[in-house]
Amino acid sequence: MRVLLLGANGQLGSDLRRAHEASGARFDLVPIGRDTLDVAVPGDVDRVLKDRDFDALVNCTSYHKTDEVELNGGLAMAVNAHAVDALARICAAKGARFVHFSSDYVFGGDVLHRRPYREDDPTSPVNVYGASKALGETFAQLACPNAIVVRVASLFGVNGASGKGGNFVETIIRVAREKGRLKVVDDQVMSPTATADVAEMVLRMLTQGCPGGVYHVVGSGSASWYAFAREIVRLVNIPADVEACESRDFPTVAMRPAYSVLDGSKISSRFGAMPRWEDALERYLHAKGHRSGTREPAGCRAPDNEAFALRYDLMTTDQVPARTMSEWLLETEFDKYVRTRRRM
Ligand SMILES: NC(=O)c1ccc[n+]([C@@H]2O[C@H](COP(=O)([O-])OP(=O)(O)OC[C@H]3O[C@@H](n4cnc5c(N)ncnc54)[C@H](OP(=O)(O)O)[C@@H]3O)[C@@H](O)[C@H]2O)c1
Repeated sequence: MRVLLLGANGQLGSDLRRAHEASGARFDLVPIGRDTLDVAVPGDVDRVLKDRDFDALVNCTSYHKTDEVELNGGLAMAVNAHAVDALARICAAKGARFVHFSSDYVFGGDVLHRRPYREDDPTSPVNVYGASKALGETFAQLACPNAIVVRVASLFGVNGASGKGGNFVETIIRVAREKGRLKVVDDQVMSPTATADVAEMVLRMLTQGCPGGVYHVVGSGSASWYAFAREIVRLVNIPADVEACESRDFPTVAMRPAYSVLDGSKISSRFGAMPRWEDALERYLHAKGHRSGTREPAGCRAPDNEAFALRYDLMTTDQVPARTMSEWLLETEFDKYVRTRRRM
């Protein structure tokens, strides 16, 4: 079996390659980077892939800097929706399996929803990124009926998201070490997920056979970003204060779902349960060398190789970007919208 892997150098793509190696490389995995195929360029998918032979194509490409995407809808639609359509079409034409990754951010518009989302719950994105991913899911399934759409969430992997400049775990560790205190939102609840665990599950889905459809592949359990941050700081043993706050304390350009926990029972009934996120986090911290028995003094600097971009789009005290007046007005409109929905 020959499998093409797009987005091979990203956070998830690199863990897929690692898991493939670790499992004995039982099939031929061909990594394809942006230098070979830029999916945002119209026609590039067909030009690069039409003469290649493959049995499956795994698409890890995405444009997912949530706030930036809000102001760049065209590029988001090109990468997250139209390119997915082109990839699904070429897979269908070749009789190849198409595996595509989507997001918990296809949900959130139903502000009263408070139970883990199932695969067949209606999508209701609250931002442009989520809308572009929801459209990508639809295109994938329309063009390639046996496509596998894997919804993941709140990823952390040893390479960090190339599109976001790191991941939440590294950001929290750095800010906690540098500042000794941080505020993190407690009113957004999600499913923290290790890319290493997603990679293992996807290899099982590919090699053991899996019917087409949507699957939720996320860490078991759930947490608010605040609870997640507290566990990171506790496990790394950083003497920092982690304070809970509300999303309204750190308004962002794009709205986030207040609740986007995904129900993983469909995948677990077929291939076994995904590990709990706390367990995955501990393994991740060991893999990155963050777990040690000694306490570090507050304010000590993160190692140079962990100089993650401050533009990372999750909210911690030192990461609120400078805002324009029109952004503030827009957020006020969003607040009004959410308050109205809550009264409904
Ligand atoms: N990260 C999260 O928290 C999260 C949450 C929910 C869902 N997801 C989904 O999970 C999947 C994997 O995410 P990830 O964290 O692994 O992201 P990532 O590290 O940013 O990887 C994305 C990959 O897409 C490639 N890419 C972006 N634009 C491209 C283009 N125009 N042409 C070709 N390649 C392009 C990037 O290439 P370069 O390396 O050259 O930039 C990178 O390899 C995505 O579908 C994402 O939407 C992620």
